[in-house]
Amino acid sequence: MKFFLDTANIGEIKRVARLGLVDGITTNPSLVAKEGRGFKEVVQEICAFVDGPVSAEVIGTKAEDMLKEAGELAQWAPNVVVKLPMTEDGLFACHELSRRGIKTNVTLVFSAAQGLMAAKAGATYVSPFIGRLDDIAADGMQLVRDLKRMLGNYGFETEIIAASIRNVGHVEQAALAGAHIATIPGSLLPALWKHPLTDIGIEKFLSDWNNAALQPK
Ligand code: E4P
Repeated sequence: MKFFLDTANIGEIKRVARLGLVDGITTNPSLVAKEGRGFKEVVQEICAFVDGPVSAEVIGTKAEDMLKEAGELAQWAPNVVVKLPMTEDGLFACHELSRRGIKTNVTLVFSAAQGLMAAKAGATYVSPFIGRLDDIAADGMQLVRDLKRMLGNYGFETEIIAASIRNVGHVEQAALAGAHIATIPGSLLPALWKHPLTDIGIEKFLSDWNNAALQPK
């Protein structure tokens, strides 16, 4: 499974990248807005640091605007992936960009039918939003399972990014469901490698070691 970081914060990316855990980045307009810097500056800095795909989202809602923005985004760095909303205009733009060989990530996917449409339109990545579905008492992970099966049935090359991840269970379940990628908020990462029994175990080993070391030989 590939790990993407769902952040636009370069500090966060650098901290996790040193552990060898970062295969790519996803951003969205809300995450970029939090940085208080220019979109281009943020994306180019991330792209220069990360050796992997970096999703940057269009703002336009009309296909024509999306395509114009996509043309610019694709010039910013070779590893930019154009993130498009799951709408009719987004699908049109996705189809056109895939024809031009530009990588796309169709975002805000909340049903299997939407995911199937994105794959059919040539999306490189499709992003089902698990947490936001769970928030409305739906089953976000079932969407990942369904998409994995559907896309597998027909041999689509589109990769599934399990997005809107909120907890460790989401990452584990997405891996079990066979999602190609999990995009994880930086704040959640320590919870993935920490466990209270690990901490207790270390403490006990050290105290046993120190007590033994104090004993006369
Ligand atoms: C995915 O690409 C999105 O940026 C992200 O996962 C959205 O997550 P949220 O629902 O926590 O905002």
